[in-house]
Amino acid sequence: MQHSASTSADSNQSGTWSQRFESALHPAIARFNASIGFDIQLIEYDLTGSQAHAKMLAHTGIISVDEGEQLVAGLEQIRQEYRTGQFTPGIEAEDVHFAVERRLTELVGDVGKKLHTARSRNDQVGTDTRLYLRSQIQLIRERLREFQAVLLTLAEQNVETLIPGYTHLQRAQPLSLAHHLLAYFEMAQRDWQRLGEIYQRVNVSPLGSGALAGTTFPIDRHYTAELLNFGGVYANSLDGVSDRDFAIEFLCASSIIMVHLSRLSEEVILWASEEFRFITLKDSCSTGSSIMPQKKNPDVPELVRGKTGRVFGHLQGLLVLMKGLPLAYNKDLQEDKEALFDAVLTVQSCLEAMTILLREGMEFRRDRLQAAVSEDFSNATDVADYLATKGVPFREAYNLVGKVVKTSLEQGKLLKDLTLEEWQALHPKFEADIYSAIDPRQVVAARNSYGGTGFDQVRQALKSAQERILDEG
Ligand code: ARG
Repeated sequence: MQHSASTSADSNQSGTWSQRFESALHPAIARFNASIGFDIQLIEYDLTGSQAHAKMLAHTGIISVDEGEQLVAGLEQIRQEYRTGQFTPGIEAEDVHFAVERRLTELVGDVGKKLHTARSRNDQVGTDTRLYLRSQIQLIRERLREFQAVLLTLAEQNVETLIPGYTHLQRAQPLSLAHHLLAYFEMAQRDWQRLGEIYQRVNVSPLGSGALAGTTFPIDRHYTAELLNFGGVYANSLDGVSDRDFAIEFLCASSIIMVHLSRLSEEVILWASEEFRFITLKDSCSTGSSIMPQKKNPDVPELVRGKTGRVFGHLQGLLVLMKGLPLAYNKDLQEDKEALFDAVLTVQSCLEAMTILLREGMEFRRDRLQAAVSEDFSNATDVADYLATKGVPFREAYNLVGKVVKTSLEQGKLLKDLTLEEWQALHPKFEADIYSAIDPRQVVAARNSYGGTGFDQVRQALKSAQERILDEG
């Protein structure tokens, strides 16, 4: 019979390879080759994927229904053994796939050797990695939502709190603090959406691609895909086993999340400095110095900023790993996993730490923020806008205000210190309402263009942000 699954016990010394092999691997090469040390993290997905494969083998008559049930039950028993700490495969298993198959055969006997019918570790590992990434993406999206929720809470409390806004790290125009925080909400929103889009491409089944060319057995790839809740199947078996675009995309999305967290971290670090003093760090999220007793260090944002580099590194690493690979599977691909695992862990822990930091690890110093926006020339644009509104061409007004700023600086004055006579000497269009026009609150409130920092706009933005979170869109 053409399509019978072999039960013969062909094996070499290590029990893994066919009789083509006469001697076992050199112990150092066995260690070098093994991935069990890290791919054990895939075990739950490997078991689930294998159960689906076993069901499909029975469903299509490649093995008997009874054999299928024995395989599924045996795999379930391995799951229990793993969860209770009884199954701890070592280096002899090479990787998680062999470890499971070997244990299965110990548990259910020779029928265990039928599990790998019409399958290769190449499509198997691709399936496991996608199942793993699928659930990690959902977790990261949940963490993003928690991060957004704390940004929203802080924003709600600070619509009318002002903070200096910067360009080139020079004071530019004052802002509603809520507006500043909502900028990070929007970044996180794109991150959340981006991961949702990538999920679609992660969620495609390579199972049944075989080693590279498909299989001679009458398998049903759509059946396994359905059992595993995949949205579709790879149309080409070569692509199925060798594609890692989904992993690159994930690392790219992770890198962008880290960019956002790192920028926020940098701001928090600046804000906590003696030079800014816009926030105080609470003891729960900062550490001291072992030598300088006065210090309180912003470790959390510094670590987040620092960890950003390693996620970028994983993206770069995988791109370089892929660029020279001929089709189809090459062992190089084993190297994708540690990068993914570390990126997943890093993004999740950084999101969690930043959420805690914002929620309870720092406090905005309203007194300092108020003083900061009252003591600078960040209302200069508003003087020019004032004149422009009264018909003076903007460029002319801009030049005139530049002159006023220069002389005020020389005299150690702020714009609010100029007398009405001084204003009117500069231009006859100035009237008493110039003082309210350059008051920081008014300066912020007046920027009421869509998406601007005006309080009304910010309230609208807050509402829209809340709605979007509820709509899950
Ligand atoms: N441990 C391997 C990996 O992670 C599994 C696939 C091995 N395939 C092979 N043809 N050697 O990529």
